[in-house]
Amino acid sequence: MHEGRIRCKELLSKIISAEDAASLIKDGMTVATSGFTPSGYPKAVPLALAKQAEEGRKVRINLCTGASVGDELDGALTRAGVIARRLPYQTNGDLRKALNTPEVNYQDLHLSHVPQQVRYGYYGNIDVAIVEACAITEEGHVVPTTSAGVSSYIQDADFVIVELNVRQPKELEKMHDIYIPQDPPNRQPIPLLKAGDRIGTPYVPCGPEKIAGIVITDIPDAVRPLAPIDDVSMAIGENLVNFFKAEVAAGRLPKNLLPLQSGVGNVANAAMAGLLRSDFENLQFYSEVIQDSAMDLIDAGKFVVCSGTALTPSEEGLKRLLDNIDFYSDQIILRPQEISNNPEIARRLGVISMNTAIEVDIYGHVNSTHIMGTNMMNGIGGSGDFTRNAYLSIFTTTSCAKGGAISSIVPMCSHIDHTEHDVNVIVTEYGVADLRNKSPRERALEIINNCAHPDYKPLLMEYYEEALKATKGAHTPHLIGHAHDFHKRFVETGTMKK
Ligand code: COA
Repeated sequence: MHEGRIRCKELLSKIISAEDAASLIKDGMTVATSGFTPSGYPKAVPLALAKQAEEGRKVRINLCTGASVGDELDGALTRAGVIARRLPYQTNGDLRKALNTPEVNYQDLHLSHVPQQVRYGYYGNIDVAIVEACAITEEGHVVPTTSAGVSSYIQDADFVIVELNVRQPKELEKMHDIYIPQDPPNRQPIPLLKAGDRIGTPYVPCGPEKIAGIVITDIPDAVRPLAPIDDVSMAIGENLVNFFKAEVAAGRLPKNLLPLQSGVGNVANAAMAGLLRSDFENLQFYSEVIQDSAMDLIDAGKFVVCSGTALTPSEEGLKRLLDNIDFYSDQIILRPQEISNNPEIARRLGVISMNTAIEVDIYGHVNSTHIMGTNMMNGIGGSGDFTRNAYLSIFTTTSCAKGGAISSIVPMCSHIDHTEHDVNVIVTEYGVADLRNKSPRERALEIINNCAHPDYKPLLMEYYEEALKATKGAHTPHLIGHAHDFHKRFVETGTMKK
């Protein structure tokens, strides 16, 4: 069933079972895997390892991935108590619960930092890399599947286990453009000048001697459904498109905008859908994840370039992708996350970043990761990579969460991932706050008036006016003893409303 996929003949003798591969992973090892936003991650070996742990084998590992991975890896290993330490981004419900307890030590990193910081030795030795592949080349190099992620784990690790997934189409080879930069002091400028440039190889350099075993699998990526686009997210998309139109009219953006980056999740997907309904054409996408909305924009002929590090379709999107793989493999470029999210390239191309906030405060700080300042939701992902280096940085959010019990606009964020210095524009279903060329006091009025939900506007204005009075109009007015009253009220009463 793997015919034609292991093109390096000497590797045919290295085919082993998932159980034998799992036995190579020892207690205390640091295990690095392929995979990025539930796609292209190993499945059979982690499932076998989880089973061994459940049957009594003592094994706790440090797990490094590209970003979130599917339940076969994060979920199964968490439930079996195998994960001691985990980095970076994740979205698995069981892992989320475990890392918000002392059971798992989780480190949330900028995704572009992960590959280079691992090479710098910040996370110790990488004992083994487990990577999903759709083929192995004649020279024993690895062709990734639906994500490129941290391609350099293959070079970092002492040995490599390949999961050759025969369900993943061979045509994915055409999508990959693998370029791994040298580290300082030898780093050169990355020779990527346009969003659609190809600068690397369709495989990750490896070589047969490094591969300890090849496991043949056919387990599909456990992609996640996206919420249907409702009136609120539709309004966010409309507000975003109108903002872009005004920027073009003001001469600050070209007619086809600049390369767009779009974040993960329901709100980001819906915001991109606004572009589909708009008159914008010849758009370029230089982003991290390629969700269904990006595929819609390719289908509509609106995207002339589509570059990312992972395909992140819904179940319906995955079917569409597989049914039309020849077409999409010509349209899409997948790069390692240190290139897709690279600050040098984001600045060079003038990327417009569009990410989603959990909460935003009246001065423009953004919390993308923590609920009530304490519990980790998913992680910062690539939002910081793009936001700080963007030509124009935008955050979208619904004005409220949990049926209106939580205002997404608060006096002071309970955790800050993106500071006021990095955030240019906030968009909710109520409107757009343009924070450029404004002092904190001006930003507060812009955000409260344009973006807050009507139920919370008076409360936010009351806080701001009292803070202004108490501080005699200080640069950033705050009532330091009351800045988190909204959060306190929610924790005590279940709503931020008075
Ligand atoms: N307080 C408490 N919960 C909140 C909240 C708030 N202020 N805002 C949102 N939530 C909850 C929602 O209620 C929802 O909960 P549920 O799953 O129990 O229904 C959940 O967070 C997701 O919210 P949703 O509105 O569906 O947003 P989303 O799917 O667009 O995800 C983020 C939003 C912020 C969680 C997601 O975009 C993320 O993880 N971002 C960080 C990483 C990133 O930006 N990556 C992109 C880089 S390319």
